[in-house]
Amino acid sequence: MALGAAVLCLSVVYTLMSSNRHNVPVSSPQRPEKQSKDPLKIDPLNDLDWRAVEPAKYRPFKPIYHITMALKADTPSELITVDTDYLDRVSLRRQIISQHGALVHGCLPSGVEAVRELYHFLLHDHLPARFPTMFQLRDQGRQFENLVTGQTFPTDVPDDPAAALRILSETVEEDMFLLVGEPEGHRAVAFQCCFPSGFDPSSKVGKLLKEIHAPVPSYDKIGPSMERFFGKIEVGKNVKRTNWGIQTDGNLFHYERHDEPTSDAPLAAEAETDMSQAYARIELQTLSRLPKTRAVLFSFKTYLYSLRQLKEEGLGPQVADAIEGLKTGNAPGMWNYKGAPQWAEPVCRYLRA
Ligand code: HEM
Repeated sequence: MALGAAVLCLSVVYTLMSSNRHNVPVSSPQRPEKQSKDPLKIDPLNDLDWRAVEPAKYRPFKPIYHITMALKADTPSELITVDTDYLDRVSLRRQIISQHGALVHGCLPSGVEAVRELYHFLLHDHLPARFPTMFQLRDQGRQFENLVTGQTFPTDVPDDPAAALRILSETVEEDMFLLVGEPEGHRAVAFQCCFPSGFDPSSKVGKLLKEIHAPVPSYDKIGPSMERFFGKIEVGKNVKRTNWGIQTDGNLFHYERHDEPTSDAPLAAEAETDMSQAYARIELQTLSRLPKTRAVLFSFKTYLYSLRQLKEEGLGPQVADAIEGLKTGNAPGMWNYKGAPQWAEPVCRYLRA
């Protein structure tokens, strides 16, 4: 009896985890033909038509906010995601890099080797193997061709690490930080981040995890376990987590702090009526270890879901509860940190209407 219940439980958990991998539609021929047993082997999506892949739907709204690591196992194959937004997103990233330059990408001397490894790994190994209908190697592996954008890049790493980071930024939608372990903790040594959610990415390079998270309320509750966990990440044993926030515009580039406005005044009446411009912003974050330099890669893809869409799904009250639950959990400072005083009142009213 107990064994039966355990098996049932496990199969439910497995089903839930599998159905959460939305990057590939469940019944589509784009699914990998068979799962690999080699943890570093990439399962190819041989017939993928990226234009037909709907963006994944993450709905991590809980009634009370607790700051936790909440990591789940992930596979190396799922490091990079693509969907119907791919071309628009990478085109936007190219514009953001040309406009904002060193604000959105950079590398310390101690990060050069990790950037070189990441560049070659993604352009030469990962992307052409995982997405053969989008990326192909040419000239005996010396050139990487992006069939979607028409761009070609050498698979040999450019001498300038910033150039390598720019190419990565406009090839994948994921923002990335590379960290190296030091006696004091893990330090960010390189980044490309075109879609920051209320922080200046360039201000984080050179900093330790605890310094990076200095503005995050109650970070001390998870900081020490994060450091321990980062030290133990194994090659091929990727993990993932999600976060969420609310924003009252559709911009992906949010460099200014979301808790910056000092007034507690709620949104102006006109903004209140334009909820078509309000979004839940969710990041799918992954952590993995590069095998040669052993740097930790923190990579995240940003999703925007309109509040109207969430309401249509019947999730309005659940999202409103989650917003109000920001102040009732183990990190009540999240209410201010996430900028809730500016928008929570009209947003919750709209979500519950
Ligand atoms: C287990 C891993 C991690 C956890 C649990 C975590 C947790 C958090 C939390 C709770 C926040 C507050 C905003 C939110 O709700 O997301 C945050 C913000 C942030 N995290 Fe992390 N984080 C992790 C890894 C990293 C890594 C590796 C970086 C690398 C640079 C990073 C960079 C940031 C930045 C830049 C912010 C915004 C800070 C600001 O407001 O200035 N995080 N993180």
